[in-house]
Amino acid sequence: MSHAILRAGDAASATTRRVEGVFRGMPTSEGAGVRLTRLIGRPGLPDLDPFLMLDEFRSDEAADYIAGFPDHPHRGFETVTYMLAGRMRHGDNKGNSGLLRPGSVQWMTAGRGIVHSEMPEQEDGLMWGFQLWVNLPASDKMTAPRYQNIEPETIPAVDLPSGVRVKVIAGRVQGVEGAVQAVATDPTYLDVGLPAGGSFSHAVAADHAAFVYPFEGSVRVGDGATGDILDRGKLGVLGGGDTIAVHAAGDGPARFLLVAGRPLREPIAKYGPFVMNTEAQLIQAINDYNAGRF
Ligand code: CO
Repeated sequence: MSHAILRAGDAASATTRRVEGVFRGMPTSEGAGVRLTRLIGRPGLPDLDPFLMLDEFRSDEAADYIAGFPDHPHRGFETVTYMLAGRMRHGDNKGNSGLLRPGSVQWMTAGRGIVHSEMPEQEDGLMWGFQLWVNLPASDKMTAPRYQNIEPETIPAVDLPSGVRVKVIAGRVQGVEGAVQAVATDPTYLDVGLPAGGSFSHAVAADHAAFVYPFEGSVRVGDGATGDILDRGKLGVLGGGDTIAVHAAGDGPARFLLVAGRPLREPIAKYGPFVMNTEAQLIQAINDYNAGRF
């Protein structure tokens, strides 16, 4: 095959992803009574393989968050906490402890099991951020627990000439590697700031599941003027394609999460904080936890 034909074929197959579903978050409560908005892991969108859950917490009312998330277990997946505002103290039963502050990320691979707490370290003011649950393949569900605690200063930021700023939490933008390494589902996790009228285009593996979530302003997702508008607080699940194009909509700037990952296409058996492949593995997880084997 000549190079000319190869290039023509590539051009013909290049497709910009479209919004396939729009989901407004549902109010919910977790931990000891923290009020959250659930975007993935709710009726209508029980999961988006490999993503099991996405919550946004955002309140300046202490009563909404002060109770925190006292000791609780996880097995079989990863939790990713991204703080925008406020401070949260993390501690676990292995003696690990750390402070999550504005702009920091904790990518926790629970693997075979941890028991941890996530408690606010403030009594007033805004607490704002996200927690994403990422599934692990069957081969990694019982791996040793691992933390990647990423300080705000160490998250690479790519400034594009158009005034677009991309924080590369995971994945790669213009040759810049994300802060988080070696995750089984090969995720992309970007925090993208668009100036008014700005656009951002990103190549992504055609078979990866992907979503866009504007948390400031409104965006248009897709090719030029034909794209779909997502207002703040609406999650856009994207269809297939190898490029994601996002434009600031309306008059103002916008900021959004762009997240993608390799689907596992494995059976899911889940019960609360345990996500395995079979019922027998779930029962084992519950027995192990009750017997103090985490
Ligand atoms: Co947790």
